[in-house]
Amino acid sequence: MPMKLTTIRNGVILMVCSGAASLFAATLDLSKLPLPVPRKVDFEKEVYPIFAEKCIECHGPAKQKGKYRMDTKEGAFKAGDSGSFIIPGNSEKSPLIHIVAGLIEEGLMPPPSDKKGESEPLSKEQIGILRSWIDQGAAWPDGPIKLSVKKVTFKNDILPLLASACASCHGAAKQEGSFRVDSRDALLAGGKSYGKIVTPGNAEKSTLLMIIAGKDEDLPEPEKHKLSPKQVDLVKAWIEQGAE
Ligand code: HEC
Ligand code: HEC
Repeated sequence: MPMKLTTIRNGVILMVCSGAASLFAATLDLSKLPLPVPRKVDFEKEVYPIFAEKCIECHGPAKQKGKYRMDTKEGAFKAGDSGSFIIPGNSEKSPLIHIVAGLIEEGLMPPPSDKKGESEPLSKEQIGILRSWIDQGAAWPDGPIKLSVKKVTFKNDILPLLASACASCHGAAKQEGSFRVDSRDALLAGGKSYGKIVTPGNAEKSTLLMIIAGKDEDLPEPEKHKLSPKQVDLVKAWIEQGAE
């Protein structure tokens, strides 16, 4: 029988306190959980980047949906009325894992979105990484987290994005405004009336960001020029890292 988030969490508590494991097993199909990855995982390199990519926008400094935040150790391990979401040493019983694996009806995180590409569930590999981290003791070093920033490149990240969003009008077939996005050189060269719209290393001076954020009201087809906030962030990171 599928159960709602709160019920399950009460179930977890019950189980933790009374050891009634059978009650727990009867409510969740743990056989659906992806397996832990069979290796030692690194929190800063592998685990936190998953939180940063998939969770922090709603559970971080800006917003704490469900009163839960995951950018600090205290927040992530905080025990509420119904216990902690992370049970070090036991990923199978950690509600966080049940939540990201979609075992709990209407409780999947990140919450599904109608917009394509906006909210992908965690992959089996990512869930496996979180499971191994918890099974290996859920170590979370004190102090600020040192994130290794992923290098955003034109070839791997920007070209695929613009090819699907813009190339029908600014590519091989058509070049509206003499502007095309199918090579880095062309994108950096800009179009006939706007000129250069990318200033490598300087997001504020880069008109491209205004355009894809939907803030340029002079262009035709406004909805074709607007990208999702996540896609805008990616282009911004690319420009800030030097637009290579
Ligand atoms: C787009 C916003 C959004 C994203 C992204 C998101 N969450 Fe949530 N999360 C919510 C909302 C809204 C709630 C409150 C749901 C409720 O109370 O029913 C919530 C609640 C939670 C809770 C608390 C549930 C409870 O019963 O108190 C946990 C744990 C959680 N999320 C984990 C995660 C994890 C892990 C990720 C990333 C893999 C994630 N969330 C990504 C919006 C989000
Ligand atoms: C459905 C067609 C269409 C799509 C898709 C489209 N555009 Fe355009 N774009 C236009 C038209 C039409 C113009 C105006 C051309 C003119 O003024 O001659 C234009 C103009 C521009 C210009 C100004 C060029 C100049 O200097 O004159 C830029 C920059 C631009 N678009 C960027 C983009 C980006 C980035 C995307 C993808 C996120 C995109 N466009 C998607 C149709 C489109």
